[in-house]
Amino acid sequence: MSRISRRDLLGSGLALSTSSLMARTAWARAAALFSGPQAAGQDSAQGTALAAWAAIAPREQFLFDFGWRFTFGHGTDPARDLGFGNKQEDFAKTGDFKFAKVGYDDAKWRALNLPHDWAVELPFVRDDALQSHGYKPLGRRYPETSVGWYRKEFEIPASDAGRRVNLEFDGAFRDVLLFVNGCFVGRNDNGYAPFRFDITDFLAVGQKNCIVARVDASFGDGWFYEGAGIYRHVWLTKTDAVHLAPLESYVRPGLNGNIAELSLGTVVQNDGRDPAPVNVTWEIFDPKGTRLPAGARASQPAPLLPDESGTYTSAVGIENPMLWSPDEPNLYTAIITVKTTGKTRDAERITFGIRTAKFDADHGFFLNGQPLKIQGTCNHQDHAGVGAAVPDRLQAFRIGVLQQMGCNAVRTSHNIPTPELVAACDRMGMMMMCETRQMSSSPEGMAQLETMIKRYRNSPAIILWSIGNEEWQLQNEEAEQGAKIAATMVRRCHELDPTRVVSAAVNGDNEKGPSEALDIIGFNYRLELPDNYHKKYPTRPVFGSETASTISTRGVYQTDPLRNTLSAYDVNHTEWSQLAEEWWTFYGTREWLAGGFAWTGFDYRGEPTPYGWPSINSNFGIVDICGFPKDNFFYYKAWWTKQPVLHLFPHWNWEGREGDEIPVWVHSNLDEVELLLNGKSLGRQKVPRLGHVEWKVRYEPGTITAHGWKDGKLLLTEERETTGPAVALKLTAERTEIDADGEDVAILTVAAVDSQGRAVPTADVLVDFKVTGEGALVGVGNGDPNCQESDKEPRRSLFSGLAQVIVQATKRAGTIEIVAEVNVRHMTTGPAKIVITTKQVPLRPSV
Ligand code: GAL
Repeated sequence: MSRISRRDLLGSGLALSTSSLMARTAWARAAALFSGPQAAGQDSAQGTALAAWAAIAPREQFLFDFGWRFTFGHGTDPARDLGFGNKQEDFAKTGDFKFAKVGYDDAKWRALNLPHDWAVELPFVRDDALQSHGYKPLGRRYPETSVGWYRKEFEIPASDAGRRVNLEFDGAFRDVLLFVNGCFVGRNDNGYAPFRFDITDFLAVGQKNCIVARVDASFGDGWFYEGAGIYRHVWLTKTDAVHLAPLESYVRPGLNGNIAELSLGTVVQNDGRDPAPVNVTWEIFDPKGTRLPAGARASQPAPLLPDESGTYTSAVGIENPMLWSPDEPNLYTAIITVKTTGKTRDAERITFGIRTAKFDADHGFFLNGQPLKIQGTCNHQDHAGVGAAVPDRLQAFRIGVLQQMGCNAVRTSHNIPTPELVAACDRMGMMMMCETRQMSSSPEGMAQLETMIKRYRNSPAIILWSIGNEEWQLQNEEAEQGAKIAATMVRRCHELDPTRVVSAAVNGDNEKGPSEALDIIGFNYRLELPDNYHKKYPTRPVFGSETASTISTRGVYQTDPLRNTLSAYDVNHTEWSQLAEEWWTFYGTREWLAGGFAWTGFDYRGEPTPYGWPSINSNFGIVDICGFPKDNFFYYKAWWTKQPVLHLFPHWNWEGREGDEIPVWVHSNLDEVELLLNGKSLGRQKVPRLGHVEWKVRYEPGTITAHGWKDGKLLLTEERETTGPAVALKLTAERTEIDADGEDVAILTVAAVDSQGRAVPTADVLVDFKVTGEGALVGVGNGDPNCQESDKEPRRSLFSGLAQVIVQATKRAGTIEIVAEVNVRHMTTGPAKIVITTKQVPLRPSV
């Protein structure tokens, strides 16, 4: 960034301007990248975020999620794949794809809306080769269920003549062939990077048009559940022929005393037929939405010629900026406008934050100059009921769950996240380590990396980039290759984003291979290594890129290999990993370590370690796949937050085990805890720092009580009571009023209660759901890693007393009534009902 004096910046409000021209070939490369919307706004109401989502005229952006048709194709038999590949002549002519022409008969195809993950709808199949992906029949050996076709017809008005139209995918799994009006347009070959196609030339204005995507999930990118299909949003964007190039706009803040120096840059492309004398302006709005007096502009001496693109840069200063932090996620907005001779041709909105992030080899991580331990979790992207097709609201819900236990950073392991997750982290104050999928300097690897950085470099949440995870070959046998590949990737990261450091998640000694090129050093597991590394390389900052892999099953207190359960006490980990208490005692007590990312925040499908069939999801989560906390959640909460915590477990329903010794644990950050059984004290213990306290208690029904003392005063009390049998169900909703926008969801918890209204922690009844009114069920779950019930049917067993139901609003305001009724086999438990109100909001424009 060029050095700018305070006077330059604050004087006229306008600042430096430079420009340069870019050749058409460079443009073609940029055009392959994606420019999605930047979201900001309230999490509790999507409608209030609308203004931030809305495109600025004359640009229009439409959500392209609604009204698709879907059918399975076939991975090996053309006859069952719409005849595709029948004669090995498919690509001989550009415009010959009949299934992508208006009027093609798709009446038998299924109607659906995006995002859509067909993997979550498939049955489980017992095949060891499918274990890591969660036993879903995908891959080349399952051709019937590995290819899906999506089709949509839509109008393009005559008034769009002369405009550029782009189709933007936030991501799809995995290989996409795109056809428009009978023509093949392009392909995408990875499961996570946003991608886009300029479809202008293929469209018919004033007429109906047709888009078809053949999505092939035969190949995978990872060793975990990845979903299948168009599982993220799709957008249709229309711009003037003179327009901002996708993903090229950046606002790069630097903090100099009490002045934020913003470096501004963008690229304008002239796709018109006439030279365009371009002016670019930047307007800056503070977190309250007030336009700042200071703005900036840039222009160039010569007009942009047709098919030419130009780079425009400028700078502006903000005095006493409101900084972004997890506690105060202040977001600024820049509106970038392109004008030619006074006429607005294009504009876009960039959300950004002002903060500094520094990794120090001696003192760890600093945000805005203050030391801050990274209390992070790694996460995959799937959730109960919906798989990888996570509604936007659920992204925010998941971040909120993690924040409740004091998690302040997420690692998007091991892939580029969806824009809505990054936007949620920006506005909710969750820091991020953003990771690309392929550690490769191949054209594909670099394209993925560039897309990630360009798409997300304006997001204050992101504090570091990761170029990959555990590349065994590149770390060991092929370390020379590894060092070269990483060096190329790191260089490109720095070019595109000089403000952030680059790392990778390395399971090894970090002495050779990719680590040579990294700005900061990430250790996966291997607690025996960082101390020596620090001694040997005292100037290199270190953090825990992946830790823990503690394994536990929510609400289950015995490890039983016959039932594939893992005790929820903090007692189990894999051979390569640690207990929660072990890793955090290590990272939490060394000032020079920046903190780390526990594997994982949420359970996810696949990787049922240490078990196999019938386990279908992981046990690594601190919360289960629904977001229900396991007991370790409270270990972290005790040591990651400043709130007083006293968490007593297990439950006290041990019928048949009278007289047996039951371990009773308390996670707490208070000074001392006293435990009582039916009113009799079993003693008081000091809570060790970063530890827990435990007793062995001979079981008798009744009540166990924990008293927590701080500074000699009784501060908190917790009880677990032996309950009676479940006699009724109880439904609660995270929100009882949601937006009637066809997207928002209500997240419901189903529990069973005894005659005194106490939740029964062992209840496992099968519950049927009826959803009526202005909403529909989109998925169910219960957090049981061994449960093979459908995510999509309107019924679910409770597991350790709980299940989750997700319902989605229609676009009409009204009410959604959800009735939960115990399946006939368990008629002793009464039904429950809840009503969700859906309120009218301005809808995101959609086609
Ligand atoms: C790590 C890997 C993760 C996950 C984890 C399970 O080595 O990076 O993706 O597989 O092990 O412990």
